[in-house]
Amino acid sequence: MTDLDRQVISDWLDTRAFGRNIEVHETIGSTNKRARDLALAGAPNGTVVVADEQVDGRGRRGRSWLSPKGTGIWMSVVIRPGFEASLAPRITVIAALSVSEAVYVATGCRPSIKWPNDLIMGNKKVCGILTEIKADDSYTDYVIAGIGLNVSTRTDQFPGDLAMSATSIYEETGTLPDRNRLIADILNSFEYMYESLTQPGGFDRLRMQYRDLCLTLGRRVRISGVNEEFEAIAKDISDDCALVVELDDGTKREILSGDVSIRGIAGYI
Ligand code: BTN
Repeated sequence: MTDLDRQVISDWLDTRAFGRNIEVHETIGSTNKRARDLALAGAPNGTVVVADEQVDGRGRRGRSWLSPKGTGIWMSVVIRPGFEASLAPRITVIAALSVSEAVYVATGCRPSIKWPNDLIMGNKKVCGILTEIKADDSYTDYVIAGIGLNVSTRTDQFPGDLAMSATSIYEETGTLPDRNRLIADILNSFEYMYESLTQPGGFDRLRMQYRDLCLTLGRRVRISGVNEEFEAIAKDISDDCALVVELDDGTKREILSGDVSIRGIAGYI
């Protein structure tokens, strides 16, 4: 795999803000943590932290995220959306869409999305996204969009059960895209979609794209929340990015957070 190179990433960038202020680390604890520190210190919109290796990579729900040296894209973007906190989940939607688009451009294969933000290839997880939000009352101070994309990881490099549920671009497509180009392409799409969010009808168009890629819709899912667990059919993505599900008795519910499992996808039996 080619080395991460700040200059090469910049050369491929086609953005106004995203990636224009960028840190590239050989090794770091967590790019999300570093991005949060930078955001708290006033870093501008679009600031990016990338690392070749994370030794304390964080996943959703307090899990850890395997981030071995030179095998993937471990990247966090600081976004200052200036809109109300309830709209912040839209950032997660466009983060997932932009990674899917960039992987498609690089490989000709388009990852699907498992709601809310797992990217799936060959029924396994190729990318996870961790968004962290700081909001005061209703105003969003910043959103950190942390992207973990497995690029060259071989199946036998995933420890234990992870090999059943995780994959990489190389394993699924046989190609090894240049990570610098891929980082720039993700940021190019991400900024483009981010700017569309403020245009009339912009989010509706993006939501349509998300629906088309979302393999959760139309399936029977198991939802595990803090205090409950139940099954339902996934029906739609709402305007505030919730998963709309229909229970067996016909009632509808909107799920804003929680683990959603789909039989046969990402290791769920
Ligand atoms: C998930 O659990 O699916 C989300 C995983 C997010 C991992 C990425 S890697 C870059 C960024 N830094 C972190 O510590 N986590 C995110």
